Amino acid sequence: MTTTQPDARTDLLRFPVGFLWGAATAAYQIEGAVTEDGRTPSIWDTFAHTPGKVDGGDTGDVAVDHYHRFREDVALMAELGLTAYRFSIAWPRITPHVTADALGPVNAAGLVFYSDLVDALLAAGITPSVTLYHWDLPQALEDAGGWTNRATAERFGEYAAVVAEALGDRVGRFFTVNEPWCSAYLGYAGGVHAPGRTDDVAALTAVHHLNLAHGRAVAAIRAAAPTARVGLALNLAWVRPETDSAADADAARRVDGLQNRVFLDPILDGRYPADVLADTAAVTDWSFVRPEDLAAIAAPIDLLGVNYYTPTIVRHWTRERPRESADGHDDSGARPWIACDDVEFPIQHAARHTAMGWTVDPRGLTALLTGLAARRPDLELMVTENGAAFPDTVGADGRVADPDRIAYLREHLAAVHAASTTGARVSGYFVWSLMDNFEWSYGYAKRFGIVAVDYATQARTPKDSGRFYAEVARANAV
Ligand code: FCB
Repeated sequence: MTTTQPDARTDLLRFPVGFLWGAATAAYQIEGAVTEDGRTPSIWDTFAHTPGKVDGGDTGDVAVDHYHRFREDVALMAELGLTAYRFSIAWPRITPHVTADALGPVNAAGLVFYSDLVDALLAAGITPSVTLYHWDLPQALEDAGGWTNRATAERFGEYAAVVAEALGDRVGRFFTVNEPWCSAYLGYAGGVHAPGRTDDVAALTAVHHLNLAHGRAVAAIRAAAPTARVGLALNLAWVRPETDSAADADAARRVDGLQNRVFLDPILDGRYPADVLADTAAVTDWSFVRPEDLAAIAAPIDLLGVNYYTPTIVRHWTRERPRESADGHDDSGARPWIACDDVEFPIQHAARHTAMGWTVDPRGLTALLTGLAARRPDLELMVTENGAAFPDTVGADGRVADPDRIAYLREHLAAVHAASTTGARVSGYFVWSLMDNFEWSYGYAKRFGIVAVDYATQARTPKDSGRFYAEVARANAV
């Protein structure tokens, strides 16, 4: 039998030269070392230590001990041939004594950790991308109202300046906030994420202050690191009505408004969507939005990160049967969907699902990327997260065979390729995640890594999907 060298094959989907092949992580999910070198508690420390909030009582206290093992982890990335890495900075390491009134002193040890990480990445030929906020708000700020307090956005801008000054000479891409949808709605309305509040007014206030925080950070990063490219990472929903009825279309409009447009419209166009303001008028008059905020939020961005896992299918709830809530999120708390009493998320019985219960449908990724490219042809797009949890099994030989994850990645990479070939300026893809880690309210039970972690020994073992991804990166093709 003859084997064809990958580079010579004509059936491969080839990506543009210089396309970045990365993996993504977040500080609280991997670092551990939560009391070391001056770090103070974040809302996720508090939440995870509150009984009943996280499956199995798991916490990020140790996580995958990346704080101590980052050099080993960078070596692993190099071994897998990754050319990019997206990680987040733990705000409570940088300014551990921040209050609503003042940023407080900068903690040099916190900056040293990330500076060393950046240097190690660069030495390994891996392009670093920094996320400034992946949900670990300093607890002291939450005690003063958290994202419902405008001061949090102001302090975030100051914190962004500190990080950009320290790393902006070596980091070319900054993402301000990650998935503000989750922070605002799951954190303040649904209650299944930190800080665990269930208050619709608080959630909508948080939406605005997260947008404002993004705008303040864009300005701060521009001032401190003028050549850096700046954007944010949104978990945009590919929303589809179950039928073409007017009622289902209205359900889709509401969900699209709350998940997509309430972020995209102010950031790209400097205005909140009128229909969202009208739908939520019984909850709040949005008087927390000051007229001058919109110009700040609309500060031009260079790139937009898209986090995509699963499609969002909605229908009008007729109240004849119990409401289905297959929206992809833990429904043990309150409902995160504000002013959507007549909306339900039908269970997709016929679909393929991941261990999260998330439907697999790569068409959504193509649709989101091409939709953004149509709206903003000049905008650099990155897939800042995409991946899947499956119940991996470790063979006797230590090998982790994860064909479902390989299939998921292959299909979604083809979806990215399809968007690229129709003109979307996609510059990179970050698989979620580099390694198994603390999956928020699901604890360690859900494994998203392309590298397996044995939580008893912290041993890292590339899964078959890690080998697959390494080959994709090497060939620049799938
Ligand atoms: C995203 C988060 C990321 C991870 C994945 C599975 O919503 O940004 O931290 O938990 O989901």
